[in-house]
Amino acid sequence: MVTLKHQLDKTDLEKPSRAVQSTSADIVYYRSLSDIPNAKLVEELMRLGAGSNGWQTPNMESARPIIPFMEGRYKATDALLMRSGVKQVVEFAAGFVPRGMNNPQWNFVHTEQDEDALRQMRDITERIISHQQSMPHFVRFDAVTGEGIDSVMACLREEPVGVTHEGMFRYYPNQSKEKTGRLAKAFLERYGGLYVTPDIWTWQRVELLRRIDPEMDRERSRILSERTGRDLASFLFKDNAEAIELFGSRIGFGIEIYTIGSLVGNLSAVPVIFKDPDMAKLVDETIKRMEIWKMTLG
Ligand SMILES: C[S@@+](CC[C@H](N)C(=O)[O-])C[C@H]1O[C@@H](n2cnc3c(N)ncnc32)[C@H](O)[C@@H]1O
Repeated sequence: MVTLKHQLDKTDLEKPSRAVQSTSADIVYYRSLSDIPNAKLVEELMRLGAGSNGWQTPNMESARPIIPFMEGRYKATDALLMRSGVKQVVEFAAGFVPRGMNNPQWNFVHTEQDEDALRQMRDITERIISHQQSMPHFVRFDAVTGEGIDSVMACLREEPVGVTHEGMFRYYPNQSKEKTGRLAKAFLERYGGLYVTPDIWTWQRVELLRRIDPEMDRERSRILSERTGRDLASFLFKDNAEAIELFGSRIGFGIEIYTIGSLVGNLSAVPVIFKDPDMAKLVDETIKRMEIWKMTLG
């Protein structure tokens, strides 16, 4: 049973949490098992830099079902942003995502609450990109409280923007997700554009993921809840209808929901992690049924 001391005080959940911030390093490792450009290099450089912080290769076994999802959500987000034709992108809670360095065509603002990760990712990016390529902006921004929003907007031009995040909503209750949604809306109201996120975690999605391995998924949720001191299951939307009520009716977005499979062809991490062909097929199909949301105003 998880001890839910942080659950008692909702405002406490919105203070920066080292335990939540540290999850970004795990995702770097999981993404390095895919063919996402620069994912392996970012992982190597992060590991070298993080040596003194005691970072260790994360628990692989219980994470196996979601590793290809990390690849699918990254690629599906890219696909929707590219399709929209925007020329600038703001990523919230970006951790060590290599999207900025991989898309030099965008005026890219890589934002994070965790200053250490932000500094490290800026150093890693400087080492990887060519001298001809312009650097993404790296800006400290809290995607729930909005602290730092002026610095983010100072990097943008007066033209449509793509706002995105992956992997932060699992750690927050609905009232905090609503604040993030309203921040995304503030960008769209000023610049136009779209808000793209694969972060809408519902019980339906968890049930889908559990087709791959119910016990592994339960174990991962237990480990993550314990590690972050948050009851992650209590933060799940019941179903899409509940999430549509929040982002559509309350915040005012028009919503289009896509499956990952409709946007992404190959999930390269699947055969790396699942050697049995039947299992690999089930995982591939399951991840491709998971969803990503595109939201716009009027
Ligand atoms: C699971 S990691 C995902 C990182 C990255 N999006 C990725 O997919 O690799 C969660 C990230 O959310 C960031 N985060 C959590 N709360 C945040 C907040 N209120 N504002 C900005 N970033 C936040 C953490 O610092 C951490 O980097």
